[in-house]
Amino acid sequence: MRAPSLTVFSTLLALFGGVTAIPAPGGKPEGCQAVDASIVASTGEPVGKEVVYNNITFYVSKPDRNNVRTKARAGKAVLYLTDVFGLALRENKLLVDSFARAGYLAVAPDLFNGAPAPGDINVPGFNTTEFLAKHAPEFTDPIIATSIDYLRKEHKVSRIGAPGYCFGGRYSFRFAAEGKGVDVGFAAHPSLLEESEIQAIARPVAVASAEHDSLMTPAQRFEMETILSNTPQPYQTTLYSGTEHGFAVRANMSDPQSRFGKEEAFLQAVRWFDHFLLA
Ligand SMILES: *[C@@H]1O[C@H](CO)[C@@H](O)[C@H](O)[C@H]1NC(C)=O
Ligand SMILES: *[C@@H]1O[C@H](CO)[C@@H](O)[C@H](O)[C@H]1NC(C)=O
Ligand SMILES: *[C@@H]1O[C@H](CO)[C@@H](O)[C@H](O)[C@H]1NC(C)=O
Repeated sequence: MRAPSLTVFSTLLALFGGVTAIPAPGGKPEGCQAVDASIVASTGEPVGKEVVYNNITFYVSKPDRNNVRTKARAGKAVLYLTDVFGLALRENKLLVDSFARAGYLAVAPDLFNGAPAPGDINVPGFNTTEFLAKHAPEFTDPIIATSIDYLRKEHKVSRIGAPGYCFGGRYSFRFAAEGKGVDVGFAAHPSLLEESEIQAIARPVAVASAEHDSLMTPAQRFEMETILSNTPQPYQTTLYSGTEHGFAVRANMSDPQSRFGKEEAFLQAVRWFDHFLLA
């Protein structure tokens, strides 16, 4: 017999540390401790797994059960709605994992039946118009409705926050309408968003916007803010300087301003869910 290894010892220490976690400043309960940018992953291997439910593939990332934030988030989940690059884009899975590290059960449905847009949508042969028609709301809404069923029935989730990116951002708004099943929305650089979809929100929604975004011009952004300010719902809009459309997912992490934008948009979403999902 050898003496207990260092690994065992440090695991015990980690467990012990988890139990006697330092109280958060301001006398907040431990589960409300803030997260920081260190939990945002943009490189490396995804740690979740894919499961199939009602013929839809989900990428599922589970939070660490021993984490104090996880305990405070039991019954709450993050429904991650991807951009057109879907589950094939590693950054999407890594962000799902990042939400799990923030203490949330996090799942992302494959919105494109295994055929997302290619990483470079300018490749010859890819027809954006055709792609978007094939994935119009009449086809995408049922996938998201099934995703909500999946969370409520399979994971016994009672409240759902939906962060959506580009293509997915529109659906964060659509499903924050009355009776649609999302309790708190968040959209980063949403595209194709219609005024009626903004007007219809019946739950809190936050938005992270890019400075340079042909899919949401300054005029459209102002219009969105005007409509939001006329709804009785809590809302937040944040504009990130030096960013392009897509920055909250595909940022150039070597560029300090891009990196800051991506991390900050993620933390904006987590703070928004912590505040309104746990309320
Ligand atoms: C399941 O989805 C695939 C494509 O994603 C489709 O071809 C197939 O018909 C579906 N099966 C059922 C039972 O709906
Ligand atoms: C793209 O698809 C649309 C709709 O199916 C079609 O009208 C258009 O001609 C296509 N464009 C190209 C370049 O193939
Ligand atoms: C990423 O940012 C770095 C630092 O600003 C820059 O040198 C590099 O060219 C950028 N890469 C791309 C692909 O834009």
